[in-house]
Formats: sequence, C-alpha cells, structure tokens
Amino acid sequence: MRHFLADDDLTPEEQARVLDLAFELKQAPYDAKPLAGPRTVAMIFDKQTLRTQASFAAGIAELGGYPMLVDGSLAGIGVRESVADVARVLGRQASVIVWRTYAQSRLEEMAEHAGVPVVNALTDEFHPCQLLADLLTVREHKQQLAGLTVAFVGDGASNMGNSWLLAGATAGMHVRIASPDGYLPEAAIVERAAKIAAGTGGSATTGTDAVAAVTGADVVVTDTWISMGKEEEAEARAAVFAPFSLTTALFEHAHPDAIAMHCLPAYRGKEIDAEVIDGPQSVVWDEAENRRHAQKAILTFLVEEAMS
Ligand code: NVA
Repeated sequence: MRHFLADDDLTPEEQARVLDLAFELKQAPYDAKPLAGPRTVAMIFDKQTLRTQASFAAGIAELGGYPMLVDGSLAGIGVRESVADVARVLGRQASVIVWRTYAQSRLEEMAEHAGVPVVNALTDEFHPCQLLADLLTVREHKQQLAGLTVAFVGDGASNMGNSWLLAGATAGMHVRIASPDGYLPEAAIVERAAKIAAGTGGSATTGTDAVAAVTGADVVVTDTWISMGKEEEAEARAAVFAPFSLTTALFEHAHPDAIAMHCLPAYRGKEIDAEVIDGPQSVVWDEAENRRHAQKAILTFLVEEAMS
C-alpha cells in the first residue's frame, strides 16, 4: 500500500509524473473521475485549515468522490481511542484517509493500520501536498524545476522548511535554507535531502545568512514564523526572526525575474512585506489554487497504485 506521508515517498520519476498529471487535470478539471462511485475520502483536521480543507473537498468532488469530513476534536484520535483503532475503523469506510495532525509518528501509525492510502495534509514535520502545489506553480512560471535555485527564508525547522528540502531535492533544485541559529532544519533532514540531491543534480544547503541565501535565487519562499502548535512562543519568535523577514530590500537580492512564494496564511509586515506578497512577482494565489490540482493528482496516483 502506497502512502504520501513525506515528500520523498515519491521517487523523482513519480514526482514528475504526479506533477504532469496535476498539470493535465488543471487543463480539464471535470473530465477525470477515478473516484467515481463515489468513493469516500476521509479528511481529518486536528489543526486549523482553510486551503487544505477547501481544496481537498473541491478536488475530491471533481474526481467523482465524496469528501467525508471527520472532526478531529470530536474523534479525539489518540485520546478517546487509539490511532490504530481509528485507522482500522476509517479504513473500512473510506478509500483514502487525509489527515492533518501534530507528530509525524501519528500519521505513520495511521498508515500502518488503515489498509488504505494515507495522505499527509500537514504535520509538525512535513507539508508535502503544499510542496506538490508549489512545484507545479514554479514549473508554470519558470518552465522547469531541475537546476533552479530556491531560497527558503524563515523557520527552517518547520514543516515547510523540511518539505522544501526533500521535495526540492527530489525535483533536482538547489535548495538554500536561511534561518536564525537554533531554527535550522535538523541535520538528519538535510542529509536525507542531500542524498536525494546527489542523484538528481540538485543540492541542499543551510545557513544563517538570509542575503547570501536569496542572492541570485529564482524562487524565494517564506512562511509564518509561528506554525500551528507554536503559539506560546510567538513573542520570542517575533524577535529572533525579524532579521529574516522577506522585505522588499531582501527580495531585491534575488534574480530580477524571481518569484515570491508563501503557502499562507501570511502576516504582512512580519515574515513578508505587503509590497512583496501583493507585488507583481508574487505567485501566492496560483499556489493556493494549485493545491486542488496537485492533490487531485496525488489522490489519483495513490488510488491507481492501490488497485494495481
Ligand atoms: N508552517 C505553517 C504552515 C501553514 C500552512 C504551520 O504549520 O502552521
């Protein structure tokens, strides 16, 4: 049974195939019905959501399926009953389980016991559906992925930093992460990305110099400094991350045709200037739209794999 728990669950060839499919689905959103029946896709959210819930629900419906929303707080997964028991129950009702939760280990346990494909809709560690949408967006704007340089400025130890490392390396990109000391990605993730990059011609580097990371980059990415679950650290983080804000001045160090990306929600004047996110080089609304196309592609891939 194939799952999509982390970005490197797809090989470079599979990632390219899924992105090709996402592009095709975007051209003809209502034609393909691999979830006809309708097959049910269970969506569970233990954290807040807007784009993920909306894009999965719309995308599942477009594929001919039924998006079943399971309220994470009512289900009390791991509290009221074990992750394994929830997996066994939902796996009997749904063809795919999509879950946004905290620790990656919870998602892995779900995958182990569900008997159906499980998709990571964001954990503390990874946000691989966002990265498929982001790579689709980069490809649309730059006509390529391999060989491009992407600079991620901000919380490198977050789900978005980790996912850029793995997904970017898989795509053959040069991924540079710039974060304050103490907020760099774990060495194990950087090594995992570097190993993938060795096979794709990409690279994975990290450092604390935001200007160095952004200089000449084709793609500049940031994300909130306060990921869901880190709210109590808000004040301390605001001070530490201030020099890593994606300001107009920092963005000027990038390639003149660089695009600016942010997975949203965005806090203007904090991690990104309004002039950058609302400016002509921002592609954030394409990213948000592409969630639907990219997720339709990964759902199609997993359902076809499960049936083969
Ligand atoms: N790093 C952010 C991403 C939000 C889509 C968070 O985890 O809250």
